[in-house]
Amino acid sequence: MPVVATRDETGTIRCFENRCAHRGALLCLADRGNAKEIACVYHNWTYDLQGNLTSVAFRRGIQGKGGMPGDADPGSQAPRKFRVEIFCGLMFATLSEATPPIERYIGPEVAVRIRRVMKEPVKILGGYTQVLQSNWKLYFENVKDTYHASLLHLFFSTFRLNRLEQKGGSSSAAKAAATPASP
Ligand code: FES
Repeated sequence: MPVVATRDETGTIRCFENRCAHRGALLCLADRGNAKEIACVYHNWTYDLQGNLTSVAFRRGIQGKGGMPGDADPGSQAPRKFRVEIFCGLMFATLSEATPPIERYIGPEVAVRIRRVMKEPVKILGGYTQVLQSNWKLYFENVKDTYHASLLHLFFSTFRLNRLEQKGGSSSAAKAAATPASP
């Protein structure tokens, strides 16, 4: 699902679906930037930084003609909003009210490692985008497949980065939840 992530006027991080309530066009076309509001390029419906619909072009018509019926409620079709949580400077978002807090969701074994790497304040030095036309779960599954790394990625053995005798492995969230985290 394409999403928009913003920091609103109060400094709060927001996240909402990147789809216009009108006909589903992408609302935000820029990768990053600053804005006070977001206007859909298709028919200029406008949204605030929380994803609320704030104006509808020609809602009352022109010179008494056209426009929406008085009981129209276009705001009820606003983009879906995510519940957002920041953990160690990383943003996590969900549409589900049932999702537990992120630290409980990832488990203590993963949380302690994120804390170790993401010491705040995090400074962004740069970034890149790589678009993979696939289901994101396939990428995640591949990361859990440590079996292939030294066999497929030849630079590991070419540059002698892999040490097959060193201790390795992967752990699941279920195991992490059952195992106390080590510092
Ligand atoms: S699709 Fe966005 S204003 Fe029409």
